[in-house]
Formats: sequence, C-alpha cells, structure tokens
Amino acid sequence: MNDTGTETLARRQPGAIKLHGPDAFAAMRKAGQLTAEALDLLAPLVKPGVTTDAIDRAVFEFAMDNKAFPATLYYHGYPRSCCTSINHVVCHGIPSDKPLKEGDIVNIDVTLIVDGWHGDASRMYAVGDIPRRAMRLLEVTYECLEKGIAAVKPGATTGHIGEAIQRHAEAERCSVVRDFCGHGLGQLFHDEPNILHYGSAGEGVVMKPGMLFTIEPMINLGRPHVKILSDGWTAVTRDRSLSAQFEHTIGVTETGVEIFTRSPKGLDFPDQPGPPLPALI
Ligand code: MF3
Ligand code: CO
Ligand code: CO
Repeated sequence: MNDTGTETLARRQPGAIKLHGPDAFAAMRKAGQLTAEALDLLAPLVKPGVTTDAIDRAVFEFAMDNKAFPATLYYHGYPRSCCTSINHVVCHGIPSDKPLKEGDIVNIDVTLIVDGWHGDASRMYAVGDIPRRAMRLLEVTYECLEKGIAAVKPGATTGHIGEAIQRHAEAERCSVVRDFCGHGLGQLFHDEPNILHYGSAGEGVVMKPGMLFTIEPMINLGRPHVKILSDGWTAVTRDRSLSAQFEHTIGVTETGVEIFTRSPKGLDFPDQPGPPLPALI
C-alpha cells in the first residue's frame, strides 16, 4: 500500500521502513513549508519579556488560520502546540507564563499536520544579546545538523549521519545528547527509523530513496547527560550546561536529500544576514 492509507507500525512488516512516492513528497513539501513559515513568524516575537505561552498561542492560531493542526497538542497528554526549551532545557520544554529574558537561548519546536502529513522542525532563537559561548553553541549545533544532512544519500547508513554529527560536536568540545533521536515520519508523527545523532558509519539502516525522517541533534556545552523534570516532559542537562537543537524534516531522494522545512525567509539560523544595508554615502 502506498501513501494513501493509514498504515501503522503494527500492521507493517517488522523492520520494514516505508518508502514514499512523489505524492507523499509533494504533501511533505507542503507540511514542511507551513511548519517553516510558523517558525519564521515567531522570529520577531522572541524578545525579552515575551512569555512562551504567547509564542505557543501564535503557533496555535497560525495552525488554525492555515487548516493545520499542531501535532504536539494532546500528543501522549502533552498540553501545548509547540515545545519551548530555554538555556539548559534540552527539549520538550512546556510553554508557560514565564517571560523570556535578555541573554536566553530558546529552541522552538513546531510540528504541523497538513492534510494528514507531518512537518517537524525546530530552531534556536536568541533573546536580545546572548553570551559568546551561547552563540558558539548555536553555531556548532547548526553545523552538526548541516553535516548530518550532508551524510544523507541512498546506500549510506543512518550511522553515517550520527558519525558526522558526533565527530563535529566533539571536535568542538561539545557533547551529543543520547537520550533522544530523530525519527521517521509522514502520516505518523514518530515512526521508524530512529536517527541517532552519534555512532559509526555502517550502523543503523541503509538509506533508500523515499524514506522520510527528521534529523534533530541536541548538543550540550557540558556533559551529555539529561534528566526529566517532575512535569514528566521537560528534559534538562544534569550539569545545567547550555543545550541547543536544530531540526529539519528531510526525504531521501535518488541522488541525495530534499529538505522540506527550510525557512522561506532564510531564517534557519538566528543571525542569518538581514536585507542588504543601503550603500554608505
Ligand atoms: N517535535 C518533537 C520532535 O521533534 C516532539 C515533541 S513531542 C511533545 O520529535 F509531546 F513533547 F511535544
Ligand atoms: Co522530531
Ligand atoms: Co520536532
């Protein structure tokens, strides 16, 4: 069955990973672009004094206005339309009435379901001026995602992705979180395969054209270990070191990779150059 039904893991051959055709790629492009647009829309909102609840409301309203649904809302009881993970929060931070403050770094992770297909992406945002070590972590983490994506091609293994990410993170004296991974997705939010952000070439599964998954490395300035807070969701670094994450949804093509969640405004990285300045004099 191809792309039309609501196939679940339970009904699939054990170990078989769904390969999607052109119709699914078109649907993922649409879901991915809307998700990226939502993240673009949030950029001017991320300012000192703004609460993560306000950001969450903007995501929900954007979804409603665009006939989409935020996949995290009610997902295994998760209560919000996005995740907002500040400073030493690694992932799955729950939006709240706590205001952002100057110098914070925050990951906003949005998953929109459009016509039944999932676009899943996250970016880091800087709240005002951030310390140099925080900007360095953002750069390293973004480069880790880029290097992971560059390792995607048919015939390579998912271990090639993990190795590329781990090598770069550790060369930059950062660490890779082991407790969370990227994931297959499509009409399901979290599906096979698991995409580890560490490991060795040759491990994992062989990539084939038509596979859809996320790459979403979580990189720490300190040690890799995390713990979950008593809310049951919020993952934080045990040593309280800063943590960052970027996520894209991608598809494996005949020749390499298609990124579905690229920012239409070029805002994938927070300090991406703005419009050219007017010439002086
Ligand atoms: N969007 C997250 C991911 O990248 C999942 C969040 S699930 C939630 O896979 F329930 F915590 F919201
Ligand atoms: Co994801
Ligand atoms: Co996500």
